[in-house]
Amino acid sequence: MAKEYKNFINGKYVSANSGRTYENRNPANQDDLIGIFPLSDQTDVSDAVEAAKRAYPIWRKVPVPMRGEILRRATEILIARKDELAKLMTREMRKILKETRGDVQEAIDTGLYASGEGRRFFSQTTPSELRNKMCFVVRQPMGVWGLITPWNFPMAIPSWKIFPALLCGNTVVIKPATYTPASTAEFVAVLTEAGVPEGVINVVFGSGNEVGEALLNHPDICGISFTGSSEIGRRIAEVCGKTLKRCSLELGGKNAQVVLADADLDLALEGVLWGAFGTTGQRCTATSRLILEEKIYDEFLEKLIAKANSLKIGDGLDESVEMGPLVSDGQRKTVHSYVEIGKKEGAKLVCGGEPLTQGNYAKGFFYKPTIFALVRPEMRIFQEEIFGPVLSVSKVKDFDEAIRMVNNSRYGLSSSVYTRDVNKAFRAVEEIEAGITYINAPTIGAECHLPFGGVKETGNGHREGGWTAYEIFSELKTVYFDYSGALQKAQIDTYQQ
Ligand code: UN1
Repeated sequence: MAKEYKNFINGKYVSANSGRTYENRNPANQDDLIGIFPLSDQTDVSDAVEAAKRAYPIWRKVPVPMRGEILRRATEILIARKDELAKLMTREMRKILKETRGDVQEAIDTGLYASGEGRRFFSQTTPSELRNKMCFVVRQPMGVWGLITPWNFPMAIPSWKIFPALLCGNTVVIKPATYTPASTAEFVAVLTEAGVPEGVINVVFGSGNEVGEALLNHPDICGISFTGSSEIGRRIAEVCGKTLKRCSLELGGKNAQVVLADADLDLALEGVLWGAFGTTGQRCTATSRLILEEKIYDEFLEKLIAKANSLKIGDGLDESVEMGPLVSDGQRKTVHSYVEIGKKEGAKLVCGGEPLTQGNYAKGFFYKPTIFALVRPEMRIFQEEIFGPVLSVSKVKDFDEAIRMVNNSRYGLSSSVYTRDVNKAFRAVEEIEAGITYINAPTIGAECHLPFGGVKETGNGHREGGWTAYEIFSELKTVYFDYSGALQKAQIDTYQQ
C-alpha cells in the first residue's frame, strides 16, 4: 500500500484544500508507487504562510544556542535513520545507494555545522570615532522564508536552506520538487520529532506553477531561496526585484574538467567518470565538458570510452550498480533531444547516445553514458546545461586555450584542472571564472562547510554552505551605544582632545 502524505502546516498534517493529489512513482520501475501527495494551490500556501507568520515572533526569541540544540537533536535522528532514509530516496529518484547515503550525510553535516553555529553566530564590534560610545553589529532574523528545492539532492539541498534559515530565527515554508517529495517530507518529520515547534517549518507539496508562484508572490514572504534552472531563477529574481524581497539563487552549470598533458592521467580518468556519470549527470556541478590538451587527446579519449562503456547501469538499490536511470521520462527525452542536436551540429558521437529500453531497463528511464568528441564552443551541446549523462569533449593546444575554453560559458559554478604543474594550477585558480575550482579532483563533491555557488548566470552572488549561508538568512543591525550622557555629533565632534 502506498503511503498517503499530507501537507504539514502549523504542526499538523493536512490535505490540500482542493482535495487534489498526485502520484509519486519510482523512476526505475513505474509499477512501484511510492506515495500519494497533495497537489496544493494558493490557498494552502496562504495557510502555511499564516502559520509561519504566527510562529515567527516566538521562534525568533528562542536563544540561538537553543535553536542550535534542537537542530543537533535532528541530526542525531538523521544519523540513526541514515540507511532507511537513503533507501527511500533511492526508491524515489534512483540515485544509487552510495550516493543517497551521501545525500543524507550532507544533511547531517549541514545540521552539525548549524548547531555549532548556534554557539558562534558571530558578527563584529568596532570602535566608535567618539568617546564613551560603543559600536557593534548583531545578526537578526528576517521573517518567513519561502524555500523552493530541486529533486536531485532531495535532502541535502533542503537542509542547506532549512538549517541556516531556522538557526537564524526565521520560520519557513518549503515547496519540494514534485519528483522527490517523500525525502523532504521525512526530513521535516525528523525536524519536528527533534522539537522544532509548530508553525516554524511548513511543507506545501505541489507544482512550481501553483505553489511556487504563490510563495513567490505572497506579500508576507520576506525572501525566496531557490535551487534550479536559470530560466526559473530569472522569473524569481524578476518578482523579487519588483517586491524588494531578498532572493538567493543557485542555478545552472556547464562545468568543465581540464586535463593537461602533465597530469596523472589515470586519476583524471577516474575523476571525469565520477564527475560526468555520477548521479547520472544530474547535478548542477556535474562535469559536462572535458577539455583535453592535444598531446594526450587520443589516448585519453580512447580509455574514457572504454571505461564509460563498461559502467554498470541499473537499479540504484543494487550495490554494484554505478549509474542509475534519469529521474523522469521528460528528462530522458530532453537528454535524447540534445544528443540529436549534437549529431546535427557535427560533433562526433563516440559512446552511447541512446536510451536503454530492453529487459530490466524496460520499466525505468535509463540512458547510456554518452560522449561526444570534437565539440566546439559554438555548439549548443557545449553551451547548454543538459542535466544527464552526456559529456562533450574538446581538444586544445595548450593551457591558455584551455582556460579560454572553460570561460567560454554563460555559467560559472564548478571547474576542475588536472595538472602536476603547480604554477599552472595557481594560474587556473586565478583565471577560471567559476565559484568553485578543484585541482586534481572532479567538479562534484563540494563540502558543506565551504561556500557553494557560482558566478555569471549560475547565481546572484549568494553562497550557500558554511558561514556564508547565514548571511543569506539574516539581516545585520548596526548598534551605536552612547554612554557619554551628552549629545555627541559624528563627523563633527570627532577630533576633540
Ligand atoms: C547540486 O547538484 O545542486 O558538490 C548540488 C556536489 C554536491 C552538491 C551538488 N555536494 O556535487
